Amino acid sequence: KQQSMLQPIVDQVDVIAHRGASGYAPEHTLAAYEKAIQMKADYIELDLHMTKDGQLIAIHDSTLARTTNAEEVYPDRAPWRVKDFTLAEIKKLDAGSWFNKAYPEYAKKQYVGEKIPTLQEVIDFVKKKDPKVALYIETKDPDVYPGMEEKLVEILKKNGYLKKGKVIFQSFSEASLRKLQHLVPEDIPLIQLYSPDMIQGKNLDDVFNRAAEYAEGVGPDKSLVTPAFIQEAHERHMVVHPYTVNTQDEMVEQLSLGVDGMFTNYPDQLVELNKKP
Ligand code: G3P
Ligand code: CA
Repeated sequence: KQQSMLQPIVDQVDVIAHRGASGYAPEHTLAAYEKAIQMKADYIELDLHMTKDGQLIAIHDSTLARTTNAEEVYPDRAPWRVKDFTLAEIKKLDAGSWFNKAYPEYAKKQYVGEKIPTLQEVIDFVKKKDPKVALYIETKDPDVYPGMEEKLVEILKKNGYLKKGKVIFQSFSEASLRKLQHLVPEDIPLIQLYSPDMIQGKNLDDVFNRAAEYAEGVGPDKSLVTPAFIQEAHERHMVVHPYTVNTQDEMVEQLSLGVDGMFTNYPDQLVELNKKP
């Protein structure tokens, strides 16, 4: 295939499907993960929260309000916190219809009635569809869910996923990553996420010295990536995976800065840039 003159020839970087291929299908549903697998993403990104009965489920927000019909089904249980609902209650919810309303251009009938998956269901699904696709798992709100790291590690171990190449762990919480550092084998990467306010006004050298104590890389908001930021990471042999990079123009910019992979809602766009001539 001929390379377009406009497309840069770049080294392969990691394609991390953010909440699945969430630009094309409702985030954190099996439909979104299936699209990510079809698009040849290297990783599926998963945000985890814990139900009232201690089950780990894939959802971004700490409440069910934005991505399900919880307000309709349970009108008197505001603010619909994940931690206040059992898995059986959560399984009654429709996690797909909101997407059809919000993104009519990508709406599909099959998304109606999609369910919030458990971590176990995600593993079973990915294993069946393409076991080469790895999981990139974020512990969300670890302070709210004591024991979530232990449970996570137990499930991955049981499924043969606590191995290099099968999983990466990420968190905004240093405490959660330091906890995982003691629970998982040394060759499993830990990634410290950074929002802009976590770094503002701080000395980058200090920030990276601290992260290097436990992390193999960093996941910064894309606005934080500069040549100096990349240099701080790479001189410590740490990878840089910015979030959330959704257009090819932005991807090309991040590639030119030297990132090692990207979280994207549109994995097909980065896969296309990754193609060798
Ligand atoms: O995990 C990388 C990125 O997803 C962090 O932001 O809010 O989308 O989880 P958020
Ligand atoms: Ca995330």
